[in-house]
Order: sequence, then C-alpha cells, then structure tokens
Amino acid sequence: MCGWADETEVEFASPRLPAGFDGLTAAQVTDTHLRPGHPKAGALCEYVASQCPDLWLFTGDLFEKSTATQEVGALLSAARAELGVYVVLGNNDNRALERDATLIEVMRATGAQVLVNEARCIERDGDQIWVAGVDDPSRDRHDLARALAQTRGDHFRLLLAHSVDIRKAAAAEAVDFVVCGHSHGGQMCLPWIGPLVSGAKQPSSPRLARGVHRFGTTWAYVCRGTGTSKIPIRLWCRPEVTRYRFVRRPA
Ligand SMILES: [Fe+2]
Repeated sequence: MCGWADETEVEFASPRLPAGFDGLTAAQVTDTHLRPGHPKAGALCEYVASQCPDLWLFTGDLFEKSTATQEVGALLSAARAELGVYVVLGNNDNRALERDATLIEVMRATGAQVLVNEARCIERDGDQIWVAGVDDPSRDRHDLARALAQTRGDHFRLLLAHSVDIRKAAAAEAVDFVVCGHSHGGQMCLPWIGPLVSGAKQPSSPRLARGVHRFGTTWAYVCRGTGTSKIPIRLWCRPEVTRYRFVRRPA
C-alpha cells in the first residue's frame, strides 16, 4: 500500500510472451527527482522495499541534484527482484552525471543494472526474453539500434526509456512493450480536462503525458512518476507508481 501515490495496475497480454514468463510481474518507479534530505525519500524506500516483483524498473530522473547520492543509493538498494533491477537515465540524471561522473557507479554499486543503450537477456524455465534500456530520448541520447543489436532471436522485448519520445523508434523496431516516465503526467493539470502538455517533444498530444498507448504493434505505458521539477507542485495530478503483470495470451 502506498498512501501518497496511486498504485496503478497494468496487465499486458501478448501471445509472444513465452510460457516460462506467463504471469511475469514488474514494478516501476520513475521521476523521483531526489535531492538531499528529500521529504519523500523515506516513504519511497519503504514502498520499494515492500514490493517483491520479478523485475524492478526505474525509468530515470532519480536524481534532481548530484549530491543526492545517499537517497538514490538507498532507493535502489531497497529494490529486490528475482530477475533484476533495471535503470535508465533521464535528462536530470545526465545533468547530474555531467557534474559528477561517479554517480553511475553509485547506482551500479547497489546491484542495479544501468542500461545505457544496452540489453540483457533474462531466462526463466528455459525461456528467454530481453530487457533493453536506452539513454534519454528527450535529449536525443538514445541509440535503440545499438541496444537491440545486443539481442538475439525473435524473443519478447521489454524496453525502458525515460521519455515517450522513443515511440517512433520503438514502433519501427516492433518492440513489444515500453515503459516510460518524464512527463510527470503533465504535473499541472486541469480538473476534467487533464494535462495541458505531454512533456514529449512537439508536435505531440497532451494525451501522451500518461497511461497506455499503442504505436503500431508496440504498446507503451507512461507513468506519472512521483516527483516534481521546476515548480514543486502537482495540480490534479497524483503521484503514481505502476505494477505490471504480463500474461501469455492473445491481446
Ligand atoms: Fe525527465
């Protein structure tokens, strides 16, 4: 249970998911924008430690300021997942890394796999799927072709990308499912109307700021995340953490 954020349940059905991964679970936390002494750092760690998914997915902007090494280290250390903890970088993480390149080691020291245009094969019951992660698409740092060049065979591919700006590239590669953040769900929304901006590059619809989307044969979920940027206020836009269940059956 997570009183300070909505816990959204997303089920994704695909006949391409191998039998060994039927019922695969994943949890996503994104856009924490942690800074030293962040008031939500403890609650976030508590929530992450309370979950036990098969995969943990952190989709960027964990850092707001480079000095939040303790907070980000504690958050990732709290994540336990049998099939791995995966992280991709957001625009704020890259800014923090420009100031202090060792921050990536702070994340890796927790056991998390930071995927910078890379992919990992995971196996269960003799079946395989791939988890790929790209560097921040909102600043054109992604290289999806490079990440997917590391995959082999026509297996199910789950992609982590900070921003939904990856959508065209992911659809062109027929990636099965993409998890994104960055938008903060619009952060400042209007009642009944919802987000005014998508957080993605223009032209784009405010609809892209949150929720489930389909691009060609690729499906994506944009999580509203837990933090804020620029103005420390969310209006009509609750923080969100996401829990996924992937099942093997026709969509
Ligand atoms: Fe971002």
